[in-house]
Amino acid sequence: MSEALEKFRAGLSEIEGAYRPALEAAAEENALREARARFTGPSGALTELMKGMKDVPGPSRRELGQACNALKTAIQSLFDARLEALEKAALQAELEGPALDLTLPGRRPLPGRLHPITRAEYDLLDIFGSMGFEVARGPEIDTFARCFTQLGFPPDHPATDEHDTFYVTGGGEGDDAHVLRTHTSTMQIREMSRREAPLAVVSPGKVFRRDDDATHSPMFHQLEGFLVDEGITFAHLQGMLTVFLERFFGGGIEVRFRASYFPFVEPGAEVDVRRKAEHGGDPGPWMEILGCGMIHPTVLKNVGYDPEKVSGFAFGMGVDRIAMVRHGVPNIKALYENDQRFLSAF
Ligand code: DAH
Repeated sequence: MSEALEKFRAGLSEIEGAYRPALEAAAEENALREARARFTGPSGALTELMKGMKDVPGPSRRELGQACNALKTAIQSLFDARLEALEKAALQAELEGPALDLTLPGRRPLPGRLHPITRAEYDLLDIFGSMGFEVARGPEIDTFARCFTQLGFPPDHPATDEHDTFYVTGGGEGDDAHVLRTHTSTMQIREMSRREAPLAVVSPGKVFRRDDDATHSPMFHQLEGFLVDEGITFAHLQGMLTVFLERFFGGGIEVRFRASYFPFVEPGAEVDVRRKAEHGGDPGPWMEILGCGMIHPTVLKNVGYDPEKVSGFAFGMGVDRIAMVRHGVPNIKALYENDQRFLSAF
């Protein structure tokens, strides 16, 4: 008997002796698959052995080939039987194990919800909408003229400085330069220039300034409002804003108008609110909420209105600020970090 033949037979009987204990020792499906692979997988013992068939003398090949195939079939049927047995055993264990606890709460998908800034904006639009204001949205990049000059800012006003304002390159010179709008007051110019009084408009949107600390973000949200008609006075502004603030903060607040300066209004004011004192306690701190005033005659002229005929008021507020005051959030950055733990508190 040739040496190759002898080696082949020895290999064959080794596998015949080994596969059954190996497959039977596997206690779960993956181990069982691994055990099978050790014999009939691409580099399994039987596969390797059969590669040596070419060295075996011709006359013995047929017999050995048949033996190999029979062994392969035997391994596969033991594998099938073992797999079925393992599956049955697993099912049995589950049936006999502790009952399913149907009272355990399921895992729900987290419901989505509106961001506090979006909610504040929608609430503002609801209230102003109910008062008859239309909504207009405008571009976040606008001309230097609409952002500053036409609103009565002198050419060297500090707000126009590159330290405060983002300039867009390639946008032209002077009044034709383009900037990321620093306030939504640009919308006064846009809307009034394209239509006649009377009008009442609110315009929410993003604005940009070179500011970055706990209470300032380089991008934030404002809402601008303005109303022009014959015979509009500061009393209209004061009454309308007081009603608005009471509705937004749900009552229980005091409102204070403080004289202030903005180039595009005369007179101008800042408005503060605070919680009323309850049961003899102290009132809350005054919080600055918005700027407002009577639209300056120069601005009315710039948009083609006759200040002898019509007058109007304007106001602007930070939507993020209003959301912060409403929810008692001290750091504006928290509104932009999108941390679920923070956002789901609202
Ligand atoms: N545009 C001002 C700002 O960004 C806010 C403002 C103040 C708007 C007074 C107004 C106003 O319409 O009358 O600081």
